[in-house]
Amino acid sequence: MKKIRINTSSPYDVIIERGMLENCGKYIADTVKSRTAVIITDDKVNSLYGDTVKKSMEENGFKVDIFEFPNGEKSKNSDTLNKIYDFLCEKNITRSDILVALGGGVVGDITGFASATFLRGIDFIQIPTTLLAQIDSSVGGKTAIDLKGGKNLVGAFKQPELVICDSNTLKTLTPEFLSDGMAEAIKYGMIRDKNLFESIAGHNLENIDEIMDDMVYTCIDIKRDVVEHDEFDTGERMILNFGHTLGHAVEGYYNYSTYTHGCGVAVGMAMITKKFCPEEIYNKLIKCLENYKLPVSVPVSAEKLLPFCSKDKKRSSGNISYIVCREIGKAEIIKTSVEDFNALMGE
Ligand code: GLY
Repeated sequence: MKKIRINTSSPYDVIIERGMLENCGKYIADTVKSRTAVIITDDKVNSLYGDTVKKSMEENGFKVDIFEFPNGEKSKNSDTLNKIYDFLCEKNITRSDILVALGGGVVGDITGFASATFLRGIDFIQIPTTLLAQIDSSVGGKTAIDLKGGKNLVGAFKQPELVICDSNTLKTLTPEFLSDGMAEAIKYGMIRDKNLFESIAGHNLENIDEIMDDMVYTCIDIKRDVVEHDEFDTGERMILNFGHTLGHAVEGYYNYSTYTHGCGVAVGMAMITKKFCPEEIYNKLIKCLENYKLPVSVPVSAEKLLPFCSKDKKRSSGNISYIVCREIGKAEIIKTSVEDFNALMGE
């Protein structure tokens, strides 16, 4: 078993081990005092893993209820959140009880936000079951729901008590979901770790399982380091958004229906690298993204995408911060006016 301690304002462990879902109740019982829990999950994940997690928790003395909602980003809204709050009231959940987020990024984000706000805050555990959630969204304490005006516009920082990553759960992912997470793994290599990048570049969707546990560990460890230095996202943490400013624009331009988050990030990384970095770096990045069946461009001009950057949370008072990697493994944060950014990208 691999373990990473995240030393944020409220410290916690991330544990990584294949097959540990069946024993997750033991690790949760060792971490929290409460023995009353609500698992929050979606219909797909519930049918795959809901019973396993519930059974393991019950065997370790927990009283467990499950709240399920329809899978997909369309559920990450105030309607679902209100249903979660109502369910928690119905089950008489108190401040000393816990929530368990069992699923991908949507489940983790909305459960985290419910836990940050219900009764002004109750503890929660993350059991991420997608690659993207394991290496990114379950660690670091960002929680949110979407508004009609954009993604993740209402949220809170709330660190979990424990994160449990079982890479066996990644075996049930469709190739599209695996690609989605690989975009974030490639991002970690680009911003911080040349060896990680080379190792990912030397594999593909068919054989990535060979290095999965080490890759998940390395990605989470990079995130740990970044988040420990800048938990509340006022500086260095922005490097985690390499490819995201344009990536969010790609997702938004297509109304969040054509490109997944990872595909948007892949296009965003490719566009920004093509514009600002040596051709050799761009070519390596493109080749690696293509290994994982990720897109490297979209059939729409930068001018049309740029208005969709305007909702980027890295924008403030007419300025925008974007990330470039002129060398593999090294990221720079560049702050510029929105006008200059638009002019540079539109050239
Ligand atoms: N997903 C980017 C961050 O946690 O800051």
